[in-house]
Amino acid sequence: MTTYNIAIDGPAGAGKSTIAKMAAKKLGFIYVDTGAMYRAMALYILRQGIDRGDEEAVGRACKDMDISLRYENGVQQVWLNGEDVSGLIRTEEVSQTTSAISVYAPVRQKLLQLQQELARTNNVIMDGRDIGTCVLPHAQTKIYLTASSHVRAVRRFKELEEKGQMCNLEEIEQDIIERDYRDMHREIAPLKQAEDAVLIDSSHMAIDQVSDAIIKAAGERGLEDRG
Ligand code: DC
Repeated sequence: MTTYNIAIDGPAGAGKSTIAKMAAKKLGFIYVDTGAMYRAMALYILRQGIDRGDEEAVGRACKDMDISLRYENGVQQVWLNGEDVSGLIRTEEVSQTTSAISVYAPVRQKLLQLQQELARTNNVIMDGRDIGTCVLPHAQTKIYLTASSHVRAVRRFKELEEKGQMCNLEEIEQDIIERDYRDMHREIAPLKQAEDAVLIDSSHMAIDQVSDAIIKAAGERGLEDRG
């Protein structure tokens, strides 16, 4: 059976994971958060004290990492060398390290096959930076989800505030801008909108409006006709 694949790409904080999770639940698809896989690799680099700027050392370390995904009640867990690291990968330090090491070929190579295999064997909504352009170029539906850097920073600020963490809105926006720049300008698999992707700007949209727009786009691209 051919699986149905929905690829969602876009910059940090555009709401990809929240929305993809919601749409996956409605459709009965598996949600694959590829950023979490890159983040687990970054955690390993940090733990080993490897310089993130040292491409050779990072490349060598890739051979010592075993990354896998598991699902518990439909919720994705990311495992690194036999340990569930899902709760350890959302810090600012991990975010910046992830963006820095994901420019290297061995890092990307490590995850490409795993991601393609997941999509070959499951109906998936997969989010990341290069899903529609590189990982799943034949995905039936591709979405490019974005929002202004200011809106994305405010969302992140509120999230951190709710967790009781002190933060500065300007610094958050600056970090987002830096990360976007690096993700969009790297040589291998940069973040960009695939030619056949539907552009959604979520700056002034509610979460369920975006999720509905994605499901509608998939409906227009053969999802309904599959029986
Ligand atoms: O989606 P996220 O914020 O969890 O992603 C963290 C970083 O991982 C992001 O800055 C770039 C990198 N990434 C990538 O290069 N390719 C992907 N498919 C997903 C994430």
